[in-house]
Amino acid sequence: MVEAKHLPMDRGFGKTERIDAWWKSPLAMAIYLGLAIAYATWRGFMEADFWIFSDFGMSGGTQTMAIESEGSHVLSPLFSPLIIPGEDGLGSWVPESLWWMSPAMFILIVPAGFRGTCYYYRKAYYRSLMASPVACAVSTPFGDYNGERRLFLFQNLHRYFMYLAVAYLFVLSYDVYMATQFHGENTNGIGVSVGTLVLLLNVILLGGYTLGCHSFRHAIGGIRDRFKNGGGAIAEACWKNCTKLNKNHNKWAIYSLFWVMFTDFYVYACTEGWWTDIVLFGGI
Ligand code: FES
Repeated sequence: MVEAKHLPMDRGFGKTERIDAWWKSPLAMAIYLGLAIAYATWRGFMEADFWIFSDFGMSGGTQTMAIESEGSHVLSPLFSPLIIPGEDGLGSWVPESLWWMSPAMFILIVPAGFRGTCYYYRKAYYRSLMASPVACAVSTPFGDYNGERRLFLFQNLHRYFMYLAVAYLFVLSYDVYMATQFHGENTNGIGVSVGTLVLLLNVILLGGYTLGCHSFRHAIGGIRDRFKNGGGAIAEACWKNCTKLNKNHNKWAIYSLFWVMFTDFYVYACTEGWWTDIVLFGGI
């Protein structure tokens, strides 16, 4: 068996001989991830008490999940699809005894599981939140990195979360469609509001992130030795495009996370009356 050789380096939390500002990047990432986790948790617990249906279907109505003030239907991605315990529709299979859970609590397990096991985010939070190690050639507080064993075997679930995340893209695309369907007392119309575009950009960024996933790339083409033996030109084209997205997977990961949070905040700000969801054209 080959024995690992360790380079001589200072031991102790944060000890290093590096003289550059190695701590800047992990610190920035720790702040970014910390804010995103805190915001999503706060919003997830916010909508625990609701019981609202609009004429248009399940909706947050007067709550802070969806904008309906202009006759539009802009649903926050943190609450989509709306799962309402004990009611008809999507939530009917959820026992009414879970009425205290908001839709976000049911939903967030998918994006949280997908991002939490993502190869890029693993590197990000192993460094920034767990200091394991915080940067190259910087000593760790808990001994050397030993690989993803024991509890960390759950990281292998990433490939399954990937399939759910791809399905989630269709759900969010449906929300964009719904955001073009305006409804009033007796009239319906088609239109586009700023909220529609905010939702659309959210799907685009999440699509770039999800379809550039390493597991998706493997499933779509990497699994094959040669394309001519299976899949042919279509599979090869999909794999090549996936590879292009994969090259910037870190950027897609960062920007898409920011935009999910911003999209939810946009909905929240509009339902609170701080902002107005301006209708750009159409509507009722
Ligand atoms: S590796 Fe990042 S989403 Fe799959």
